[in-house]
Amino acid sequence: MTYSRIAGTGRYLPEKILTNADLEKIVDTTAEWIKTRTGVERRHCCAPDQTTSDMCVEAAKIAIDDAGINLSDIDMVVIGTTTPDLIFPNIATLVQHRLGIPACIAFSLEAACTGFIYALTTADKFIKADEAKCVLVIGAECLTKLVDWNDRNTCVLFGDGAGAVILKPSEKPGIISCHLGADGQYKDLLYYPVGPSKDLHKAGTDEVAIIMAGKEVFKVAVNMLGKVATQALESSGISKDELDWLIPHQANIRIIQATAKRLKIPMEKVVLTVQDHGNTSAASVPMALDVAVRDGRVKRDQLVLMEAFGGGFTWGSVLMRF
Ligand code: UT7
Repeated sequence: MTYSRIAGTGRYLPEKILTNADLEKIVDTTAEWIKTRTGVERRHCCAPDQTTSDMCVEAAKIAIDDAGINLSDIDMVVIGTTTPDLIFPNIATLVQHRLGIPACIAFSLEAACTGFIYALTTADKFIKADEAKCVLVIGAECLTKLVDWNDRNTCVLFGDGAGAVILKPSEKPGIISCHLGADGQYKDLLYYPVGPSKDLHKAGTDEVAIIMAGKEVFKVAVNMLGKVATQALESSGISKDELDWLIPHQANIRIIQATAKRLKIPMEKVVLTVQDHGNTSAASVPMALDVAVRDGRVKRDQLVLMEAFGGGFTWGSVLMRF
């Protein structure tokens, strides 16, 4: 049986940092409200001319270097994002070309904040099926370009960034289990109102921007993140006490704390980046993984559970030995 395993990680955060104090000057809020209600203290924002593929390229270079592979080793690129540069060509082809990776399988997928978990799961299947031998998997997002900077309910939450991993075959796990889910009955609770074939934006109302029913999203998120983590552990016969690290989607410190409490996992085992990154959607889990690998917390062979939840709703988990 071939498993897949992460051989290298990388992340990129845009230079510009927007603090809660900066936001106080833009919108009717306080730094204290943002910190206590969300856990976010600062977030990075793309420059106006900076794109998601720019961030992907930088994160990928670090992951490729970390894995010690050549560009020609890579035979697949998969990117989870809701904010690609263009509708087409797909962003993975742009990144493949810009990095100088020879022609290969390259596609992006959209699962909102669960995009990286969906992309990693897909890469794992390609490796297990012997259809790919070295996959560049990225979660990347520039949601700060989609928010209404007059809407204090949403503009204080999001940040930009990209997280990348290199996934390769391995004799031993590696990835132990992946679980994905989605339910479109929740489509009206979190969405962007304009797409290439539909326009739900009411002319003359607000700016076209992310629409979110925060409280409702919060409740379903805690419930689903708890469920998907339990499913990952139970299906693998692994107890929560064996887990070394939980790396959850970084949407809100209170969602993370409530999920950890529900799972009875101590917060010391939870990787937190929400204070520094804000909610970076598909980039949040791979960036948090990279942070914890590089600061020495996540070590080789440790048991790590990554999980995410986002618009759709979508949700998913990957349980792995790093
Ligand atoms: O990535 C996955 C998708 N997104 C999420 O997971 C987000 C999930 N939801 C949340 O994180 C939280 O619901 C929010 C952070 C969005 C909001 O926190 P909350 O504790 O649920 O606040 P709320 O919406 O119930 O609002 C409480 C009060 C309201 O005032 P009133 O009606 O009580 O007078 C809001 O108008 O806080 C007010 N408020 C603010 N005040 C200062 C809302 N946003 C702000 C703000 N600054 N930025």
